[in-house]
Amino acid sequence: MALSYYKEELVKTANALSMKGKGILAVDESTKTIGKRFASINVENSEENRKAYRGLLFTTDDLGKYISGAILFEETLFQNHQDGESMVIKLNKLGIIPGIKVDKGLRPLPGGKNVETFCSGLDGLVERASDYYSQGARFAKWRAVLQISEDGCPTNLSIKENAWGLARYARSVQESGLVPIIEPEILMDGSHEINRTAEIQEKVIKEVYKACEENDVFLEGTLLKPSMTVPGENCSSKSNPDFIAKMTIRTMERSVPASVPGIVFLSGGLSEEAASVYLNLMNQLDRKAKWNVGFSYGRALQHSCLKAWRGANIKEAQKALIARAQANSEASQGCYVSGSQPSSDEALFVAGYTY
Ligand code: 13P
Repeated sequence: MALSYYKEELVKTANALSMKGKGILAVDESTKTIGKRFASINVENSEENRKAYRGLLFTTDDLGKYISGAILFEETLFQNHQDGESMVIKLNKLGIIPGIKVDKGLRPLPGGKNVETFCSGLDGLVERASDYYSQGARFAKWRAVLQISEDGCPTNLSIKENAWGLARYARSVQESGLVPIIEPEILMDGSHEINRTAEIQEKVIKEVYKACEENDVFLEGTLLKPSMTVPGENCSSKSNPDFIAKMTIRTMERSVPASVPGIVFLSGGLSEEAASVYLNLMNQLDRKAKWNVGFSYGRALQHSCLKAWRGANIKEAQKALIARAQANSEASQGCYVSGSQPSSDEALFVAGYTY
């Protein structure tokens, strides 16, 4: 089916996903990554346990009040809940749109520097996306990763390749009716100042939209998922939250077209509380463009929930999830009062994080 066939639906889906006061729950951890999370709470990484954990998330009462979409790993999109009903139906019942991670992971970038990577998975993507659509998915995610280093990363090659990959992906899944979430993550690894992050991020996002233009991506049917503009994790001068919010919005205003309906930030290793506070401050600033400024958090929505669950405590885990979902819903409207909901200040940063 051609992109023109899906245009109206893509706009509707993108607008529903980036509706004011709602955000996206990222639960698309690969089997290896969820294994690391489970290991931290002494739970075996079996299909049964993955099903039990994700099943509890998708049966949390009222989650749809705060969450517009959930990004799934392929296994979950085709999985049934323990009660026999499909995970897709569970999400639909809550009014949450199912999405799917479609990239096939990061690979070393030949000709790049140090640990630079490109994101794989373009082969056969239009066909795969069409299967995911038939299974109930309505949006997709592709995560490209760039790293800032003292010795010249990201290189122009890495910026070009990752931007091009994101644009090719976006165009491909739109052909099959899925809204692409375009995710150029800049890792927090490094000791650079916030100004350097801003400079690099502006360059990267501009390159992404240049590539989108060349691929004729339909921007009204897309979302951007960037990292926030923060200093490197090992930077000696820590920026204050107000400055982070200002720099992030300035970077977005300089690089994201007004035709994009929503910017949904990733949490990238920020603590649960910091992710909510920064988002809240951004939503208190006057903005030039009208894009919705929301969230698509993985760790910052699930950390307390996982710790509460420990393989058995479903009710406690659901309580922790709904608390963070509500907090971020408030933050996306600029009315979150820090500390009003239980949260964790624990830094969730992991060097060279893979998803
Ligand atoms: P974090 O919020 O944990 O960074 O994860 C979001 C995500 O989907 C990364 O690709």
